Amino acid sequence: MSDEKVTTDIITLSRHVLDEQRKHKEASGELTLLLNAVQLGVGLAGASNVQGEEQKKLDVISNEIFINALRSSGRVAVMVSEEDEQAIIVEDGLRGRYCVVFDPLDGSSNIDAGVNVGTIFGIYRTRPGSNGTVEDVLRPGKEMVVAGYCMYGSSANMVLSLGNGVNGYTLDNAIGEFILTHPNIRIPSRGKIYSVNEGNAMYWDEACTEYFNSLKFPPPGKNPYSARYIGSMVADVHRTLLYGGIFAYPADKKSKNGKLRLLYECFPMAYLVEQAGGKAVNGSGRILDIVPDQIHARAPIFLGSNDDVEDWEKINEKFA
Ligand code: AHG
Ligand code: MN
Ligand code: MN
Ligand code: MN
Repeated sequence: MSDEKVTTDIITLSRHVLDEQRKHKEASGELTLLLNAVQLGVGLAGASNVQGEEQKKLDVISNEIFINALRSSGRVAVMVSEEDEQAIIVEDGLRGRYCVVFDPLDGSSNIDAGVNVGTIFGIYRTRPGSNGTVEDVLRPGKEMVVAGYCMYGSSANMVLSLGNGVNGYTLDNAIGEFILTHPNIRIPSRGKIYSVNEGNAMYWDEACTEYFNSLKFPPPGKNPYSARYIGSMVADVHRTLLYGGIFAYPADKKSKNGKLRLLYECFPMAYLVEQAGGKAVNGSGRILDIVPDQIHARAPIFLGSNDDVEDWEKINEKFA
């Protein structure tokens, strides 16, 4: 028998969430059941194989899979998806007390190139006395009770926060369970990487131009930052969480509110980054304080290591 240590106390996502729930007196286990449906949804969406399917966009297939998994959990009242123009109100009989906002397939333009893609989601409790309406999701991201994403690449990586830190799980295909592999993820206070689409540089405002130039042409004695831009938010944010640095999708002359959607891209990622000790702003304040005016509202976003984001804020204030 080799003397390598055999792990006999494997912590699955379901068990870890239950342990978390036990810390909250009022926990009813409802959220645990909902997160099991989310696990099912991402597991199926990540594995969905279009062979034999009529040629439907993967965005649509993963959307249908996720909606069915959430609806059948009986824990959801309202769903908002990037792929559905209107909010989905779950029919009586199956309606629960959570609202899930999600991007079923983030980075889909990259999928043919084999680049990592993912599912991004955030969860609100319905407001007290509400039976579930779109008003339950037109709320600041700080009112979410769960935020997370699942990234599909060489493995399936789930990163999740229930408001008490951030944990990472990896899908073990042999047992079909997500296993805790990255407990208590903390983002470095400063990184050495910037992540932005430089192809938009001619449309940037002066603050962005000055900030990114300060990273590329630092004062003597300082090294330039490295540029990394994958083009799937889920992959760029995952790297930023683990390595530090800054990810940005700024507003510019072409897109006055930036490109990323507030509810199901900016809010969940901002929530995770803050829970990991980082910062997420939109140029005039904290992303998580914004009240969306409609379910597909967009927002500029700068997120990542606290010191890097604050460097950008200082330059931005000069032009305010
Ligand atoms: P989605 O595939 O869900 O529509 O999201 C794509 C987003 C996001 O994943 C990424 O950060 C951004 O588009 C990249 O946009 P550009 O190609 O304009 O840089
Ligand atoms: Mn997206
Ligand atoms: Mn998408
Ligand atoms: Mn899209």
